[in-house]
Amino acid sequence: MDTDSDQPLNSLDITPLRKHRTPLETFKRVGVPIIAAVLSLVTIIVVAVLTKAVLDKYYFFCGRSLHFIPRRQACDSQQDCASGEDEQNCVKSFPNGPPVGVRLSKDRSTLQVLDPDTGVWASVCFDNFTEALAETACGQMGFDSKPTFRAVEIGPDQELNVIEITEHSRELQVQNSNGSCLSGSLVSLHCLACGENLKAPRVVGGEKASVDSWPWQVSVQYNRQHICGGSILDPHWILTAAHCFRKHLDVFNWKVRAGADKLDSFPSLPVAKIFIIGFNTTYPKEEDIALVKLQFPLTFSGTVRPICLPFFDEELAPATPLWIIGWGFTEQGGGKLSDALLQASVQVIDNTRCNAEDAYEGDVTEKMLCAGILEGGVDTCQGDSGGPLMYHSDQWQVVGIVSWGHGCGDPRTPGVYTKVTAYLNWIYSVRKSEL
Ligand code: ARG
Repeated sequence: MDTDSDQPLNSLDITPLRKHRTPLETFKRVGVPIIAAVLSLVTIIVVAVLTKAVLDKYYFFCGRSLHFIPRRQACDSQQDCASGEDEQNCVKSFPNGPPVGVRLSKDRSTLQVLDPDTGVWASVCFDNFTEALAETACGQMGFDSKPTFRAVEIGPDQELNVIEITEHSRELQVQNSNGSCLSGSLVSLHCLACGENLKAPRVVGGEKASVDSWPWQVSVQYNRQHICGGSILDPHWILTAAHCFRKHLDVFNWKVRAGADKLDSFPSLPVAKIFIIGFNTTYPKEEDIALVKLQFPLTFSGTVRPICLPFFDEELAPATPLWIIGWGFTEQGGGKLSDALLQASVQVIDNTRCNAEDAYEGDVTEKMLCAGILEGGVDTCQGDSGGPLMYHSDQWQVVGIVSWGHGCGDPRTPGVYTKVTAYLNWIYSVRKSEL
C-alpha cells in the first residue's frame, strides 16, 4: 500500500484543497465506533439468548405471579405457581376406555360395527350406506378427514353376519340384523390416504435412508435434543412411545421435527398435548405407547405424509419381513446418535421363541411383538424408541413401536415392540376425544 507520506511531493503537484484522511484515520474515526457498537449489540444479544436458554432449561416461569420455579417442579403433581400454571400443560394419562364400536378389517378395509347388546361384531352392508355414515364411522376412529368408500362383494366364505346401520349422536348404530343385504356388498372404507411413499426402500442392514421412503418418520425432541422417533398418523397426531416422556412431563419444551432425514437441532413444530395410558406402568415394558397432538396441522407433501394404522385383524406370521428406521445408536453403548436416518429390514420372531429361557423369560406379553434377524446384528437401539416397525401390504402400516430390548443386535434378545393392534381402541378414543 502506498501513502503520500512515503514519497517527497513533486513541486508541480497540486496541493489538495481539503486534506484527505488516510484510510487508517477514517477507520479509526468511523469504523472503530461502528465495530464497537456492533460488538456490544452482539454481546447483549448473546447474553440475552444464553440467559433465556439457561432460564428455559432450568426454570419454569409462572406467568400470572411473575416468578420462576425450578423446572423439575413443573408437572410434579404439586402446584408450585400461585395459580397452578405449572401443572396445567403436562403429559396426560388417558385410560383405555370402552370399545369405540367401529373397526376396519384387512379384508379390503371393510367396515365392522359392534352390536353393544349382543357384543358381536358384524360387517356393514352397503345398502343405504351414505357419506354421512362414512364420516361418522371415521369420526369414531378419530379421523376428521374426508373419507372415501365403495362397495365390495361379500366373499363366499364370509359369515353372513351383515348389518345395516344408522346414526345416533355421532355414533353408528346397528339397525337390523336379519341378515338380508340386498346389494350383496359390504362397505370398504378409507378414512385417510396413508402409507404411500415416493421411493421404495431397497438394501438391507442399517444403511442410509431417504425421507422420500419414510415421509412419516419424525424426531421427537426435548429442548431441541432428539429423544425419540415417532410417526405421523394424520395432520394432528404423532404416534410414539410412552417411555420417551419418562423424564420430562412438561409439554411446552417438547417439539416435533418432520420432513427431514438429517438430524439437527433446527427448531420444529410445537406440541399441544401429550397422552399416555397411565403413569403407574412398569418401565419400559407395559403400555409403551403415546400420542402427541401438534398445535398446528401438518401440510402433507412428498416428505411429510401419514402412515396407516394396521387393520384390527392384521396377524403377522413369524418371518414376515418388516422395516425399522431411526437415528438411534449405531452400536450398543456406542453413545452416539446417527445424523442420517438409517433403515434396515428385520423379521417377525414369534413370542414363544422370544420368551425362551435364554431370552426374555416371559417378559414379552401378548401386547408386544419381537422382531430382528436370526444372525443378530440388525436391530433398533437407544434413540430409535417411539419410531415405527413397518409392514407393507397394500400400503405401509405401523404395526409396532420401538420399545425395549436387552442390548442391541444380540441374536438371542431381539428388539421388542409395542403391538399397535392391541391399542387401536385407545388410539381411536384419544383422537375422538379431541375432535
Ligand atoms: N428403549 C430404547 C430407546 O429409548 C429402544 C431400545 C430398543 N432396543 C432394542 N434392542 N431393539 O430408544
